[in-house]
Amino acid sequence: MTFGSRKSYQIKEGIVYLQFEQGQGQLQMLTDEIVNVFAPSESGDHRSKAIEGDKSQHIYFEAKECIDHLELRTKKLIIRVYDDFKIDFYDRNEHLLCQDYRGQRQFGVQVSEKFIEFLKAEGHEVPESTDHDHKIQVVKTIQGDEAFYGLGDKTGVLNKRHYSYEMWNTDNPNAHTDAFKALYKSIPFFITLRKDCVYGIFFDNTYKSYFDMGKEREDYYYFGADAGNLDYYFIAGDDMRQVVAGYSYLTGTTPLPQLFTLGYHQSRWGYETAAEIRAVADKYRRLRIPIDTIHFDIDYMDGYRVFTWNEKNFGKPGEVIADLGRQGIKVVTIIDPGVKLDEGYSIYDEGIQNGYFARTPEGEVYVNAVWPGDAVYPDFGSPAVRQWWADNQKYLVDLGVRGVWNDMNEPASFRGELPQDVVFTDEDRSAPHAAMHNVYGHLMSRATYEGMKRHDGRRPFVITRACYSGSQKYTTAWTGDNQSLWDHLRMAIPQMCNMGLSGLVFIGTDVGGFGADVTPELLCRWVQVGCFSPLFRNHSSKGSTRQEPWLFGQETLDINRKYIELRYRLLPYLYDLFHETEQNGMPVIRPLVLHYEQDETVREINDEFLFGERMLVAPVVEQGMRKKLLYLPEGRWYDYDTGECVQGGQYIVKDAPLEVCPIFVRAGSIIPNYEPMQYVGEHPLDTLILDVYPGEGSYVHYQDNGEDFAYQKGEYNLYEITLKDDTLDIEMLHTGYAAVYQKFIICYKGHRQEFAFRGDRLRVWL
Ligand code: GLC
Repeated sequence: MTFGSRKSYQIKEGIVYLQFEQGQGQLQMLTDEIVNVFAPSESGDHRSKAIEGDKSQHIYFEAKECIDHLELRTKKLIIRVYDDFKIDFYDRNEHLLCQDYRGQRQFGVQVSEKFIEFLKAEGHEVPESTDHDHKIQVVKTIQGDEAFYGLGDKTGVLNKRHYSYEMWNTDNPNAHTDAFKALYKSIPFFITLRKDCVYGIFFDNTYKSYFDMGKEREDYYYFGADAGNLDYYFIAGDDMRQVVAGYSYLTGTTPLPQLFTLGYHQSRWGYETAAEIRAVADKYRRLRIPIDTIHFDIDYMDGYRVFTWNEKNFGKPGEVIADLGRQGIKVVTIIDPGVKLDEGYSIYDEGIQNGYFARTPEGEVYVNAVWPGDAVYPDFGSPAVRQWWADNQKYLVDLGVRGVWNDMNEPASFRGELPQDVVFTDEDRSAPHAAMHNVYGHLMSRATYEGMKRHDGRRPFVITRACYSGSQKYTTAWTGDNQSLWDHLRMAIPQMCNMGLSGLVFIGTDVGGFGADVTPELLCRWVQVGCFSPLFRNHSSKGSTRQEPWLFGQETLDINRKYIELRYRLLPYLYDLFHETEQNGMPVIRPLVLHYEQDETVREINDEFLFGERMLVAPVVEQGMRKKLLYLPEGRWYDYDTGECVQGGQYIVKDAPLEVCPIFVRAGSIIPNYEPMQYVGEHPLDTLILDVYPGEGSYVHYQDNGEDFAYQKGEYNLYEITLKDDTLDIEMLHTGYAAVYQKFIICYKGHRQEFAFRGDRLRVWL
């Protein structure tokens, strides 16, 4: 992209319009710390799918023409704009944060066409070369010690320095490896951490985009896209948490989910009849393994026609759902976007009559294939199509379905990728597949969320495979088709950590692995990670070993039960984390670097994470390993398993027999627990257990009815709990939900004391 020399500037309604010799650029200071950099290469407006509403706080800033640049100052930043739309960001102490690279990209050694032919002949996949400038491209200087985090759902390690990725939602059934450039989701946001500063960049461009984090060359990194606008947000902050909060401010936070969705879920692609599902449910209850939700995969539909019911194998529509409901089990059903091409099938007919499906450039309805065979693709970029899709959710709601699982929405297509020029709609105009591909799953999730909200009224539970930045407002997500491989268990940790940093907080992996065959040991270690994953679902594929907890003998069953029970005990703590994320976007699963960024050791930790700020989890992710080398950051930590106090700021070796997942709790923490339950709703939640760890600290616990939107009208309670000088004080900060706890159980140094609570305050001498 060439802009040429800077000519003039003008400020209109808070936006700085810059005229260059060869084009126009714009800068908007949305807040003192968030700046939008924009050049209207394709359209004059942002057309953002991620950002809703006006995020500008209309702040005051200064603008000053200097000899060779324009200088803009907010309360927190100095922004200097030079020729060719080169921009450097400084903090108010003139400390350089982020600088545009002044040279040209230097491409690698070119590989000859002939050699590429040889590689292909031997069956190698030869990735498209990125040795060319992208139509939209921004190159930034690497100062030296940068670590990069975020980028949503990528394979590989936590720190993305020296790796390159692409954003193009991709359903690739092969085992995901570190070499994959793209998976199902596109979240073009990353955080740059240096010793003395941190910032984030959100590149809001839905076309295929590219991120090279210092792989091509040591002295720069770049991001670019095939088309669209130059449109990115520079997000500064005093620490990494502020950057995450800034990104969440722009793209939205995860709304508080229904409490039951945080329980345990069982799924399998392969439950082919209602009888099979009833047997699974019965077994859970008989073995007293807590469970809240069973997922119905595609076989519940009639010939994979969405919004239909397979009466032959699943009985009268809704009957099995009602029966499971009596056991406290809720049902989530899968819905794919591909609508079977089938005249006489009402969804297809309605879509055809109303022009709701994507078309070829020649105007024919575009046909590809998914599970039902020939299928057509709803055009979710059109408000009318979203409205229609939202209304179709009523069919599921009326059957008693409590959540919708949106799959195959990259969109997947069995007869090759949709051509780039298939015609979709972008709100009020048409747009090619190239522009709408990465937001297809996002828009489908949005329609589903809106439909569930309208027709069910409770907090919608939507799960998606494909998504874009900002999807967290509508949907939870899972990492798609992983496999029962130790590599994939290992990968799950940095993958979920980076997704959490990228706004997608409510996430999980298929526990046990989807494809390939799980071993008992792998399942045990995976359930220990699943226990702390925001979405805790065991799911597996047809053709692979079944992986319900009881299929591998007593030890595996006991370990599964232990961690599922632990999950239920920790529900109030987890729910508090969700309450927090709704306020400020903080993830549930956090890399250590999010809280200890000054500690260089934690920048590269891939096999530990924080569960909220207070618990550190260091799962064993190696077969046969019965000890864990783990790092504890500064401070004192309590071993969850033995109660032992350990000094942080060092590596330790922790014994970790198969039934032990190393967990440490920070000194002075208060961790709320519930009493054992088999499912949410089994008994009233009138007692709160507080696990108190010696030290000083305070904690705010949130409580509401766990189901609907009444909390937004003030129907919630906040309890402030303070620990100081061996005294614990509980005080109501807010009372709006009638079912105030009646009892507190305080656990401290191995002692357990019970106290009646009368709804005002309580003081306990520990
Ligand atoms: C896709 C999904 C998987 C699902 C299967 C059948 O592979 O990722 O979770 O079970 O389709 O619907």
